[in-house]
Amino acid sequence: MRTQAKSPSGRIAPRVRPIDRYELRADEAAALRAAADRLVASAPHPGPEPCLDQVVLLGHELPWEIRQRFIDFKIGRSGVGGFVLAGIPLDDAALGPTPLQIPWQSESAELRRVDAILLLLGSLLGDPFSHVGVQEGRLILDICPLHGNEETQLASSSSGGLAWHNEDAYHDFRADWLLLMCLRNPQAAATSFARIRDVPVDARGSDVLFRHEFLISPDSSHSVDANELGLKTISVLSGDRESPFVRIDPAFMSRDLANADAGKALAALIDAFDENLQDVVLEAGEVLVIDNLRAVHGRRPFEARYDGHDRWLRSVNITADLRKSEGCRTGPQGRALLPESVRSGTGRVAGGPAGMRGRVPQSLEPHDAVVHDLVAEH
Ligand SMILES: [Fe+2]
Repeated sequence: MRTQAKSPSGRIAPRVRPIDRYELRADEAAALRAAADRLVASAPHPGPEPCLDQVVLLGHELPWEIRQRFIDFKIGRSGVGGFVLAGIPLDDAALGPTPLQIPWQSESAELRRVDAILLLLGSLLGDPFSHVGVQEGRLILDICPLHGNEETQLASSSSGGLAWHNEDAYHDFRADWLLLMCLRNPQAAATSFARIRDVPVDARGSDVLFRHEFLISPDSSHSVDANELGLKTISVLSGDRESPFVRIDPAFMSRDLANADAGKALAALIDAFDENLQDVVLEAGEVLVIDNLRAVHGRRPFEARYDGHDRWLRSVNITADLRKSEGCRTGPQGRALLPESVRSGTGRVAGGPAGMRGRVPQSLEPHDAVVHDLVAEH
């Protein structure tokens, strides 16, 4: 693997270090693709998503330099925040058309390989999981423009752009890392990206940002929580003051706070992120790996064409510790996180019969009695 000198296009504050990029050598790309094929073949029965049984073991067989890159990124305290892994060969014609609706079903073997690659790379950081209320709990998510969502704050928006945020900032079990793999991007739409370490100390050093004085609501991608849950009180920063974690989603946070100092500190932090965003234009076969606790991301506006060749990414959420959500997950492989509103007994999953609180989509069979009991309680 070698570092590529290529810089992201688009505007970038002069003092902000461009995101690191690594280009796979041909032999590394071939080894990754071969491991993905073995993962696909290892599934006892081909299902709608890859079987997770062999993911970690096969991840151990990836080339040393790939593993080293991901492990250094995982344990490093430098706050590097993200990087781009480039050079994954894709057969564009074999992927099929960019979806026009989500969720959807595909029989493409190339797409199965893409999903396996995402899971193998993710396994070098942690364990994949999903949210029951997002794309029916699927482990691998589609990101592509959808009719009617152009101006929304959803990943399927387009002309309106997507404001920067931490993924699922509202949720206590939000991802530690997020992998976005670009399948096609003919519009050269830019992903916006900024690290908390890019923010000057005077904007992130305020004690008040470490206090639980900030109000956040669920974002609109969650079919239940967005409608059922109210404001939650959080701290925006946590952890080491020299290299803090960040939890922020301005589009779903209140600026009108009882503590005026907290409101000013939040506004200053938001301004500082705005000034330090850089644009990352992903090309087909590139994966953007994001540290969801140390970086924010969004997407610049672009014009969707809905012609089957639109921008198309596949993504997966990765957690550092599955055990912290034990008893709160369901699905065929036990990785679909139940909505907070279900866990707290206030919500109903979209698609469940009216009046049945806490029902999960029919496509997700609860994986053990714990979840049955948890759902039944409510
Ligand atoms: Fe996001």
